[in-house]
Amino acid sequence: MDNNYAKEMAHFIKEYDQFIRPYNDAIKLVKIRLEALDSDYGQLHRHNPIHQIIHRVKSLDSIIKKLALRGYPTQIEYAKEYLTDIAGVRVITYYQQDVYEVVRALKSCLDVVKESDYIRNPKESGYRSYHMIVVVPVHYLKGVEYYPVELQIRTLTMDCWASIEHQLHYKTLKDEFYGEISKKFQQYSEELNMISLKMEAIYTQQNSRLPMPTEFKEDA
Ligand code: GTP
Ligand code: MG
Repeated sequence: MDNNYAKEMAHFIKEYDQFIRPYNDAIKLVKIRLEALDSDYGQLHRHNPIHQIIHRVKSLDSIIKKLALRGYPTQIEYAKEYLTDIAGVRVITYYQQDVYEVVRALKSCLDVVKESDYIRNPKESGYRSYHMIVVVPVHYLKGVEYYPVELQIRTLTMDCWASIEHQLHYKTLKDEFYGEISKKFQQYSEELNMISLKMEAIYTQQNSRLPMPTEFKEDA
């Protein structure tokens, strides 16, 4: 390890807590929006679209690894400038239509700088999810600062597939994974998607039969 590198690392470790704080604040703000949306939707439609919200900030170790992988110096300024997934929020919904409701609602209150619909266009692996990077204004005494938050919005079924596939990726030898196993996973993704859409069709049918909440009935 050369001397400069050791110095950069020591600086990074010392600064990490302070560096990560606004990302944690940005996550809290996104979570508040999501929770309000969920309860609002629940009142209007008698259905809470969100099953679970998970969040994490990237560890110091992962930040350093990712910077190195991309060929950037391992310095905090580069992490702030080039990494958009330091703050991550995963929203797990019941149904596919819920994913699009969440996306629509988030777009109405936050600036989206990047989005990828891996539900309409699944990845070759079979991965399905809606990805968004939103920019969150965080207000401090010295003024407002903007921080990116990466959102992965997906159904319970999509999350089940992604979690197991991700875990097996690390437990299996690379050559083995990219052969037979990856083909199986592509197929399981299709099968799970079909089952999930069948369950969603039942929900849609049942939901259309429910009476509207009293306060929204005409002449109520
Ligand atoms: P990175 O975030 O730098 O990897 O690149 P990117 O922003 O282009 O990534 P992308 O939007 O393709 O994916 C980001 C995240 O989505 C990953 O860190 C995973 O959490 C998830 N993801 C993407 N593809 C897969 C996949 O095939 N399987 C699983 N389990 N997760 C995936
Ligand atoms: Mg990432």
